Amino acid sequence: MFQWKKTIYKTVCLSFLLVITVTVLQRGMAPNQFMQGQQQKELPPSDPLKSQKRDNTFSISNTFWKTKKEKAPVKEESVTAEQTKSWDVTTTNCSANQNFSKVDWFKGLEPNFQQFLLYRHCRYFPMLINHPEKCSGDVYLLIVVKSIITQHDRREAIRRTWGQEKEVEGKRIRTLFLLGTASKEEERANHQKLLDYENHIYGDILQWDFLDSFFNLTLKEVHFLKWVDIYCDNVHFIFKGDDDVFVSPSNILEFLEDKKEGEDLFVGDVLHRARPIRKKENKYYIPSALYNKNIYPPYAGGGGFIMDGALAKRLHKASETLELYPIDDVFLGMCLEPLKVLPVGHEGFKSFGKKKTRTAR
Ligand SMILES: *[C@@H]1O[C@H](CO)[C@@H](O)[C@H](O)[C@H]1NC(C)=O
Ligand SMILES: *[C@@H]1O[C@H](CO)[C@@H](O)[C@H](O)[C@H]1NC(C)=O
Ligand SMILES: *[C@@H]1O[C@H](CO)[C@@H](O)[C@H](O)[C@H]1NC(C)=O
Repeated sequence: MFQWKKTIYKTVCLSFLLVITVTVLQRGMAPNQFMQGQQQKELPPSDPLKSQKRDNTFSISNTFWKTKKEKAPVKEESVTAEQTKSWDVTTTNCSANQNFSKVDWFKGLEPNFQQFLLYRHCRYFPMLINHPEKCSGDVYLLIVVKSIITQHDRREAIRRTWGQEKEVEGKRIRTLFLLGTASKEEERANHQKLLDYENHIYGDILQWDFLDSFFNLTLKEVHFLKWVDIYCDNVHFIFKGDDDVFVSPSNILEFLEDKKEGEDLFVGDVLHRARPIRKKENKYYIPSALYNKNIYPPYAGGGGFIMDGALAKRLHKASETLELYPIDDVFLGMCLEPLKVLPVGHEGFKSFGKKKTRTAR
């Protein structure tokens, strides 16, 4: 009886995933559209790797689960001999900033902002999973997708649809997922093991040793920029987005055809003169102690944007001159400002379907 229920449950989970994928595929896209946001759908919790039928079977499975024990948690994979630069952060040794304990305005802040400020100076964390080889050689379009450890099914759908790695008329497309660590204690052990396995199969995960929380999204942003600066000397363009959007790489390629590199391309769904939200119940609430201006610099919000590779490197350098800001999209806008680069709005980015109640990703 129990076995029966399990089978039905698995089938339901799988068909649910397929329906979403097929719907997304069938909806299609107008030629001038790059990206479409999606309503957040709560998928039933599934046992990620087991509940899916795969096209291929992977013979490594048995040994994989056993041999890992002795290995150190930090691993750098496939670092080639000619790689001169590499991720240089190997320890997490960052204590709370005691300076705040003396200031009055700090005491009046909400606990989550206090937590944010206490550790804001902790800029970089070690890498748990790295793939320097993804950026070796000429990469025309690097697709990077923010994801969290439990969203295995979304990554799976992306790999099978718009995130497929391929070469179009000599232009190489590569895909990577950006992750931190599980934010819930009970998820940590099991999901990490599954993620290691997923990475073992697909080799497309970058993971850093910081908690995947809403306020740590900006950490993900700066870690990625640093990573690009270290490893990606020959990446022409980058699409960076969430794992709940649908993207048309062929439309992006067409759009990029007449773009020259190094012309500081930054395109997305751009917000001009947006105001910081001062209502405490709002997810994007920002106390004026943290940001006292009335208007944000222009920034690309809502799910994804395209930039050229050289600009990403300059953004990394600009980011290091600024203090981290809890909203990642806005933070990137703040980095563009000193570079005097204006993000350009393009109607190919449709993020209207996307609810503004995102979780960390
Ligand atoms: C961490 O930093 C503190 C203070 O800077 C230092 O005393 C300590 O030795 C460091 N620990 C490690 C493991 O590096
Ligand atoms: C705390 O204040 C001192 C003195 O102003 C400064 O040197 C130090 O960098 C501050 N600590 C942090 C973590 O920002
Ligand atoms: C961000 O990640 C670090 C490292 O895991 C953690 O100590 C910190 O509490 C996180 N910050 C927030 C605001 O969640």
